[in-house]
Amino acid sequence: MSKPEPTSVENIVGSADLIVSKSDAEGNITYVNPIFIKISGYSQGKLIEEPHSMLRHPDMPKVIFKYLWDNLKEGRDVVAYVKNLCKNGSFYWVLATVRVAKNPDGSFRNYLSTRKCITDSAKKTISSLYADLLAIQQSDGVESSENMLNTFLAEKGVTDCDSFNNLMIEINK
Ligand SMILES: Cc1cc2nc3c(=O)[nH]c(=O)nc-3n(C[C@H](O)[C@H](O)[C@H](O)COP(=O)(O)O)c2cc1C
Repeated sequence: MSKPEPTSVENIVGSADLIVSKSDAEGNITYVNPIFIKISGYSQGKLIEEPHSMLRHPDMPKVIFKYLWDNLKEGRDVVAYVKNLCKNGSFYWVLATVRVAKNPDGSFRNYLSTRKCITDSAKKTISSLYADLLAIQQSDGVESSENMLNTFLAEKGVTDCDSFNNLMIEINK
């Protein structure tokens, strides 16, 4: 699917909006709620079975998705800020909580992402961090971007995925 040309138009996620999707083990969309459909601008039929990367915004640094997947694959839930691209090229910011859902026998069931609005101060902090991570990724590669993220996290006392998630929640206050 060809990607829309990004614009500077921001779609504001309301404080009561909860944008939900589920995916298979590869990140292909298996369920979206009505708010997901409304904000993305795509029909349900265009979203189901497509990879979540169809919403990927070019301002998102690769290392954030690497962090997400590295932890999901280990069975850990991840809280992360995501800037998404809508069908018409506009964007929206969310704080996503991605959970690993299991069957009663402990086997993988699906991934569940619930996304909510973010504060202006979180938007400022995270846009600036992501811009720095993206710039170093483009000049020096993903590994350098990962080192920069690790330095940022270490300065904030993050030692594991739980403390990463807590920091993301804290930044949104
Ligand atoms: C449940 C779930 C929800 C996801 N939601 C998004 C999303 O809203 N936006 C996004 O860009 N990536 C999302 N991803 C991550 C994508 O799978 C993918 O890693 C990312 O878009 C980068 O894709 P790329 O490496 O092919 O560029 C989600 C993954 C999972 C498992």
